[in-house]
Amino acid sequence: MFRRWRQNVRIYHMANAIYPGSFDPVTRGHLDIIERASALVGELTVAVLKNNAKSPLFSVEERVNMLKDVTRHIPNVRVESFDGLSVEFARQCGAAFIVRGLRAVTDFEYELQMAQTNRSLQPGIDTLFFATELKYAYISSTIVKEVASYGGDISGFVLPQIAEQVHAKMAARASAIK
Ligand code: PNS
Repeated sequence: MFRRWRQNVRIYHMANAIYPGSFDPVTRGHLDIIERASALVGELTVAVLKNNAKSPLFSVEERVNMLKDVTRHIPNVRVESFDGLSVEFARQCGAAFIVRGLRAVTDFEYELQMAQTNRSLQPGIDTLFFATELKYAYISSTIVKEVASYGGDISGFVLPQIAEQVHAKMAARASAIK
């Protein structure tokens, strides 16, 4: 279905972009943004932040590998990890845009502040916001981990191979605590 939709979209190939985030783990909502953003730009680099203040469930290598796996059908997407400022990584990638998804009004204040900070740091780089598809609007990596930690069904939130890895990680953590 993605392939058919993409054939109908005019591919602008206007510039490169990065899509920075924690992706701990990648959700169906992230993937939707990646598919839509990659159809508009030459190359989209999904950029996984290494030194995140939040203590992640998955290592940066695991997150990069999961993203590579779920984006293998999109030829102009590459996945990298980065450290430091998003704008600096965007500059290194020759990207003109930073892609972010907006799920709800609650995202807006933080995202606007981040976009304005990034713009003041690097005026040549703009933020492109994508309104999250309504069916994914409530999904976040945090929600995925919360539901999985109680053994709930996360198949609507992440792809099957990601769900498998989340459950495996949760099980490993639980047995380490015992
Ligand atoms: O998926 P997240 O956790 O919402 O992503 C947040 C992220 C990684 C985009 C943001 O924290 C970020 O850009 N961090 C890198 C440091 C940086 O550039 N900070 C300045 C922006 S205020």
